[in-house]
This record gives sequence, structure tokens and C-alpha cells, in this order.
Amino acid sequence: MAQHNVLILGSGGREHALAWSLSRSPLPGKLYITPGNPGTAELGENVTITPAEGAPPGPDAWFEAVEAFLTEKEIGLTVVGPEQPLVDGITDYLEERGHKVFGPSKVAAQLEGSKTFAKWIMHKYRIPTAGSIEFSGEAVLDNLEKWLSTENQKWPVVIKADGLAAGKGVFISRSRPEALEHLGKIRNDAALLKAAGKVIVEEFMEGEEASVFAVTDGRNARLLISAQDHKRIGEGDTGLNTGGMGAYAPAPVIDDRMLKLVEDTILYPTLEAMQQEGHPYRGVLYLGLMITREGPKVVEYNCRFGDPECQVLLPALKSDLLELMLATVNHELDKSEVVMSDDHFCCVVLASGGYPEAYAKGKEITGISKVSDGAMVFHSGTRHEGGKLLTNGGRVLNVVASGSDLRSAIDNCYREVEKISFENAVYRRDIGAKGLRRLQ
Ligand code: AMP
Ligand code: GLY
Repeated sequence: MAQHNVLILGSGGREHALAWSLSRSPLPGKLYITPGNPGTAELGENVTITPAEGAPPGPDAWFEAVEAFLTEKEIGLTVVGPEQPLVDGITDYLEERGHKVFGPSKVAAQLEGSKTFAKWIMHKYRIPTAGSIEFSGEAVLDNLEKWLSTENQKWPVVIKADGLAAGKGVFISRSRPEALEHLGKIRNDAALLKAAGKVIVEEFMEGEEASVFAVTDGRNARLLISAQDHKRIGEGDTGLNTGGMGAYAPAPVIDDRMLKLVEDTILYPTLEAMQQEGHPYRGVLYLGLMITREGPKVVEYNCRFGDPECQVLLPALKSDLLELMLATVNHELDKSEVVMSDDHFCCVVLASGGYPEAYAKGKEITGISKVSDGAMVFHSGTRHEGGKLLTNGGRVLNVVASGSDLRSAIDNCYREVEKISFENAVYRRDIGAKGLRRLQ
């Protein structure tokens, strides 16, 4: 088979895991990552792609620069890590110019980019999710305030800004005063206000959260395993929301029966819905689920791999990721098999003290060379300077290890975590604990 030069867009732990997995394939020619991080630099070439000087603001100028790079370097496949370029329409832009892109089109990415679009699809096609009402139009927040102030409201409710809000656009309001306080937060935050041109209010779902990931060419889908993220900064799921402090896979809450239910009632109906609407979904579909007493329900869709979930999913993938991605973009996923490891995987994120609020950067990281061969360290916020590796972000490193069961995957992972240090490093000590409790 032909060799493929590959470009990965992004710079986090997810993109390091993507680079690691793609570099194991016999297929790639050269691997480029933009902008990448010190971890990806060990697997391919990090490149800077910037819009031409004087170009008008907006994503198109950067897309144009990416397109020029693809042509110059004869890139056969572009893999988009984060959601923003997908929601901005990078796939459409590059495909219209003859390039192959792993990631959904602009409209299909609205499953993540617009919560009202996602709700509309789910309600129309009877995909299980929380009941919701939508507020839109001129006086959206005033109307929401009036609605929240009416009597006979059932609490809690979940208030969600429509657009991308870096995880800050969702509020769980347990009482009327709390809901009004949350509304005030939206009103006083410019970025949130921008995302809140429309707002939805959802019923609160009780249950355990977990995610299921599928690779799909629009019609055919291949399930990867389930995973569970740990979004809060503190142990026992306390404190502020973060990008994710650790993950493990598979998640025991999604047993084989539950996985089949997810496929039959959520995954395939969603793919069918997007086909019916004339916007088949291609790429990786991330189903953020609540496992309730009535069965699995959608909390959210994401249009890309999760971070840090990707860091446990790809080490568990035994099949060739590049082959799978090419089959996806070529609409021939029916010819591909996905084989996942029988092992269990755990990822612990090391973060800078203070994250997700203010934190210091530039602290020297030591101990990575002591990590055992069987374990992996994916970089997120790091940089090299003067021959040293320094912290350069909130989430700094992802330590990943496997084991024949969840307990040993967790123990193996923490054994490696303890070998790494930097000033004021923090990490959760209970990654996977919920899974262990369920197994008892
Ligand atoms: P989202 O960005 O929609 O995934 O929401 C962020 C987090 O809020 C989720 O991971 C859940 O923990 C929580 N959440 C969102 N919607 C609901 C809901 N309807 N019921 C309960 N929890 C929710
Ligand atoms: N870890 C959650 C996300 O990637 O959205």
C-alpha cells in the first residue's frame, strides 16, 4: 500500500497519543504535527503554520495556510485533534480542495458545536436524552430569567449555553436562587454571552457518566471501547471542572448488554439521523452518556476524541489506526475490523498546582526517563528550554499504564506517576476508583 504523509492538528496529550499510534503504522511516510509539543517532536516533525501576513481575521486564513502546507508536503491525510477547527469547517475547506481529512464536516460537527442542534436531532429521531426546552431570539436571557422565576419548577435543572464554551457553558442549578446566580455568570462573561445566543434548559439526569467512542464513515461504524473521564480537579469528583484529570478504559458501567443498547438506541440512530439530514457524520463520534435506570441517555456528543480518553483508547487499539482512518475517509469502513486489547488502561494527568485557575509555568520536570518500558508518558503542557523539560500549561503530562484487570492497570499507573516530579505538581489519586467500586 502507498505510504502516506500525515499532518496532525493540535498540541495536547490527545495529539501526542494520536502521533504515537499513527507512528506505529507501517503506512505513514512522514508525520507532521502543528503546532505539536515536545512529545510529538520525538515521533515526527512539529511545524508552525500561520496565516499569511495581513490576512483578514477568521479561520479561513489559517485554513488557507494549512492547505498550502498539505500541497507542499504531499500530505495524504490530515487528522484534526480538537473541536474548534472542525466546528469552523476545516474539513469542508480542505476536502473541497482535494485533500483527505479525518474529522466531520462543519454541519456534522454541530453535534458538538451547537447544543440546540444536537438536541433537535435527538428529539426528532427519538434518541434517548434529557428532556429540554430551548430559549432563543432577541431577549433570550430575559426570557430564561422569566421562565426560571415561575413557580412549580422542578429542581435541579441544567442550563447550557448553545455554543462552544471550553467546558464552562453548563450549569447545574439546584434551586431558583442558584439558577439566577448562574444566569448572572453568563451575563457577566463575554465569552459565555457569545456562546449563549441560544440556551437550553434540561432535566437533570441521575446516573453514572461514561463515554463510548466509535469511528464511522457515515454509514458503517466500528466501536472502540468505553472510557470514563474524571472532569473535576478534586478527588471524589469535587472542586472545579477541568479538561479532564484522568481516564480509564473500559468502563465497567458499560457492560456488553449496555454497549449493545448504546449501539442500537444511540449510535446507529444518530448516524442514520445525520444521513437523513443530508450531513453524514464521518470521523470519530464521542458519545458522552449518562447510564440511568431507564438505560443509556446522551449527555453530549463530541466530534473528536476526548482528552484524556484518547490516551487510554489508542494504547488499547490493536488495529492499525492509519488504516482505520483511511478507510473512514474513503467510505470503506465495512472492510475494516477493529481489534481492541483485552487489557485495562489507566491514565493519570499531572497538572500544575492551581489549575484550572491561575498556575505557574516553567517548572523543571524530572523523572520521565525512569518510567518503565511498558508505560507511556504523553505530553500536554510542556516545553524544552536549555536542554531541560519545563511545565508550560495547566495539564502537563499524562501517564498511561495497562494491566490484566482494572486494579493492576491503576496500580501500575500510579507506580509510574510517582517517578515523575515538578514543583507544585498535582494529580488525583482516585482515577478508576469508581470502576473498582462497581466491580466489587
Ligand atoms: P456537557 O458539556 O453537556 O457534557 O455537560 C458537562 C457536564 O455537566 C456533564 O459531563 C455532566 O456531568 C453534567 N451534565 C450535563 N447535562 C446534564 C444532565 N442533563 N443531567 C445531569 N448532568 C448533566
Ligand atoms: N475529556 C473530555 C473531553 O475531551 O471533552
